[in-house]
Amino acid sequence: MRASAPGKIILFGEHAVVYGRHAVVTAINLRCYAEAKKSNSFKIHSPIATTGIDYEKHPYVSYAIKRFTEIKPIDGAEIKIESEVPIASGLGSSAAVSVAVLKALDAEFDAGLSNEEIFELARKVELDVQGIGSGTDPFVSTYGGAWLIPERKRIKLEKLKIIVVDSGERSVTAEMVAKVAELRKKLTDVVERVFDVMDAVSLKALNGDIPKLFKINQCMLKALGVSTRRIDEIVQKLEEMGIAAKLTGAGGGGSIIGVGSEDALEKARKLFNAIIVEPEQEGARVED
Ligand code: MEV
Repeated sequence: MRASAPGKIILFGEHAVVYGRHAVVTAINLRCYAEAKKSNSFKIHSPIATTGIDYEKHPYVSYAIKRFTEIKPIDGAEIKIESEVPIASGLGSSAAVSVAVLKALDAEFDAGLSNEEIFELARKVELDVQGIGSGTDPFVSTYGGAWLIPERKRIKLEKLKIIVVDSGERSVTAEMVAKVAELRKKLTDVVERVFDVMDAVSLKALNGDIPKLFKINQCMLKALGVSTRRIDEIVQKLEEMGIAAKLTGAGGGGSIIGVGSEDALEKARKLFNAIIVEPEQEGARVED
């Protein structure tokens, strides 16, 4: 059976959400597809490699299989991954692949898992691989739509078109989360206040004014040390083109998101060879 799950963008509040502050997130219309077929051994095919269970090359898929087999013991499965969500770009590709694999295994082996159970397993996979994380990515990827975190309150976003520019730099989420934790350890009072600003920004964003709030959120992420020179340059160039922008996700590279007029977005899309995405309502689903 073939299943899919969407990627996500964090509009507001990344990192602060790890410390209980609010974040605003939405699933996006880029999906990761996983096909699962019964077999007598485990095989994983992806654009990265073809392997068996391999916690180095395919950590999320391998742990997703492991967690699934704890619920429903199986002898093997052949898994094929295809993804529209660029890898390690801050767009939730890791969670999308975990959720898509779990949904495909669930359908192929008639495990009867609810969405909540799929989310719980994907959440465990996130912790298996990263050791730390707020669970936001697997949650949004499972359920789709836009949410206020940590309440998990569904929110309505005005019709949004969002440009996503790839910085070309890659980072590891767990390392960026650890970097912020280190700064917080050294400068607890200061960093807590930065989180508080981000919290206020996320709550304010529910009533609009996204462009101004993007700018403030980006300044706070810079203060946390998770922006990079390349990200700053792209943000500045986008601003010169009339687009308010910020990094999204863990930072240290990954993607920059921006909002502006259709005209400005189209010009920037061409300049940066970027993509334009929209919020996606549908979460994990079986495709067949
Ligand atoms: C990563 O997409 C977002 C972070 O806030 C980490 C997390 O919430 O797990 C940096």
